[in-house]
Amino acid sequence: MIPHRTGDAAPTERGVAETEIRKRIVERGRIPFSEFMELALYHPVGGYYSTRRPVGAQGDYYTSPAAHPAFGALLAVQMERCWELLWRPSPFYVVEMGSGDGLLAQAFLAYAENLNSDFCDALEYVALDRRRSAVVRAQQPWSQQRVTSDGIPLVGVHGCFISNELVDAFPVHRFRIVDDHVREIFVTEDDDGRLIEEAGDPSTLTISERLASLDCRLPEGYTGEVNLGITNWARDVSAALDRGFVVTIDYGYPAQELYAPSRSQGTLQTYFQHTESGGPFNRIGRQDITAHVDFTALERDGEMAGLISLGIRSQSEYLRELGAGRMIDALRQMPMSAHDRDANMMALRELVNPTGLGGFRVLVQHIGVDGVGYSELMPSQNRLESLTPPLLDSAHTPLFEGRYPQHEFELESLWPFGDPDDDEAPPDER
Ligand SMILES: C[S@@+](CC[C@H](N)C(=O)[O-])C[C@H]1O[C@@H](n2cnc3c(N)ncnc32)[C@H](O)[C@@H]1O
Repeated sequence: MIPHRTGDAAPTERGVAETEIRKRIVERGRIPFSEFMELALYHPVGGYYSTRRPVGAQGDYYTSPAAHPAFGALLAVQMERCWELLWRPSPFYVVEMGSGDGLLAQAFLAYAENLNSDFCDALEYVALDRRRSAVVRAQQPWSQQRVTSDGIPLVGVHGCFISNELVDAFPVHRFRIVDDHVREIFVTEDDDGRLIEEAGDPSTLTISERLASLDCRLPEGYTGEVNLGITNWARDVSAALDRGFVVTIDYGYPAQELYAPSRSQGTLQTYFQHTESGGPFNRIGRQDITAHVDFTALERDGEMAGLISLGIRSQSEYLRELGAGRMIDALRQMPMSAHDRDANMMALRELVNPTGLGGFRVLVQHIGVDGVGYSELMPSQNRLESLTPPLLDSAHTPLFEGRYPQHEFELESLWPFGDPDDDEAPPDER
């Protein structure tokens, strides 16, 4: 997720989620940060994801599906290839977890209509979100299923699980290294009734076990997060998926980088109206709280659950391998106004910009598909040559207007795929 600006957010008046948090603190003295974050984000009445539409211009940040429909289109191309590798099952399930407003589903399903018609006929797209208020946008095609659930109500799936920015929305435990010991950060109240942090004995041994497994030396005072929800999630996916692939897209790092001494204050962030806001105790239930994802934990917990890692790429590399470069070349040839071309270029470029959304990571895992390597997941030359880009519509975040109101940029010079003959080198090597 990416905000447009950074700055301070004003404090909030008390809402339902905060009232529940304070009630629990009065009853128990303090609560783990993870419990605070669970209530702040997912309280059924007052939680952030229960009450707000967070993604897009009217929300608090934008994500890849909100930036440009090419993201969903390229994932459809990826899923068509996975369907082939699974010997073309019918039905072929694509289960999107954390589907939010359904923008990815919408772009995916619209583009799938252009792909192999047998793939399209076999496709069963299931969009899962624990957020009851997630509204699937009105535009069709939306002939597939949308399910509200924070578990996975499926078994025996042949197909793929995909997610974008799901795992960064799992509540995290926070910790601090004090006198060479792992202490957990709890939330409590001071004498004036302000919410404050308090370090104490961990509420679960799993925090220390996770940190011990990292092989990282954490210095005194280091403060960070562990995302223990990954373990159960990997188990649930593995239990539901008989045979197929898991594609997980999010921002984060391998453990060695995530827990590097240079990140000694962790990666917890809060977002409100496209602004990085000032800490988790502001605007409780009205601002997002998130932390970078530990991709080593994703891989390890996956392997423990039977999900075999095929590789991790940057989003930039991954989308490029799926044909983002072809799409931009085709975009150049399409008849449209200069404004529309520039807006589409800008948003497509953002998807592969190594310092923007393109810097996210993509983990691909499989279960029960032996003998397949990462490179075979990529589409054939024929498929790449036939790709045409979908175009922005009013559902997408207007990045062009938001970030570059004067339209002064020479977009062709910014685009990393400027030379079609140069299509093979990843953009961050230029
Ligand atoms: C950061 S938003 C991303 C939404 C969308 N994927 C996108 O890219 O715009 C995270 C979403 O994951 C959902 N979520 C979090 N935990 C979940 C879980 N265990 N099962 C299903 N959905 C979950 C939240 O309700 C929220 O809609």
